[in-house]
Amino acid sequence: MPKSIAIDGPAGAGKSTIAKKVSANLGFIYLDTGAMYRTVALKAINEGVDTKSQNDVEKIVENIDITISHENNTQKIFLDGVDVSEAIRTPEVSAGASNVAVFKEVRLKLVDLQRKIASDKNVVMDGRDIGSYVLPNADLKIFLTATVDERARRRYEELLQKGQKVDFEEVKADMIIRDNNDSSRTFAPLVKAEDAIEVDSTSMTIDEVVEKIMYYYLEAGKTSPLQ
Ligand code: CDP
Ligand code: CDP
Repeated sequence: MPKSIAIDGPAGAGKSTIAKKVSANLGFIYLDTGAMYRTVALKAINEGVDTKSQNDVEKIVENIDITISHENNTQKIFLDGVDVSEAIRTPEVSAGASNVAVFKEVRLKLVDLQRKIASDKNVVMDGRDIGSYVLPNADLKIFLTATVDERARRRYEELLQKGQKVDFEEVKADMIIRDNNDSSRTFAPLVKAEDAIEVDSTSMTIDEVVEKIMYYYLEAGKTSPLQ
């Protein structure tokens, strides 16, 4: 059985940064499931479809072609054969992703893809419902949190560095809307799995969080990469 680590939590908690490093340490692949929801949203936006319209979004997802590749521990995501890894990182796509993620048909399709990848390879997977729904038997489940101010500050800095013009209060407001969307949807919401370990990263550095998760996996966890 391939090994798996699930990292869930709200936006800006540090999931992808931490998951990338943990997967590199262990030689696992890193699977960013948020990128898949973003890709569905990008297709809707490109086709002029309202990301809140269930019928239209379900039509889009019926024959969407999403493929993932991993090279040098970096995930690339392709929409209908085109690399959209960068195009999915805009605030518009962030908001759209949280809209399309509410629809069950969208989730079923993407979860199927996520489980297929994990059935074949050792993975560190990050998202909202990985420990609670996608991989209920993951070897380690982490629920990563931080205060909303700290998460918004991190995302704001990140967007500034990418040269995107943003307003802090707007970034924070968008994040709160997305958190609410994610926590309140009926199907596979953002929730801490019963057997997940909660890590509050508000005042922790990236390396401290990575060290803590490596400790849980190697020292206190159920498995060793040598096995
Ligand atoms: O994937 P998620 O939205 O949970 O967060 P992320 O994209 O990994 O992290 C958002 C930003 O916060 C990145 O720029 C990270 O470098 C930064 N970060 C941080 O400053 N301190 C941490 N402990 C974790 C992440
Ligand atoms: O990086 P950030 O945390 O801002 O977002 P992301 O992980 O790229 O996910 C984008 C959106 O996809 C989230 O706001 C969620 O609504 C949705 N998502 C989800 O519903 N389930 C997942 N497993 C991953 C993402």
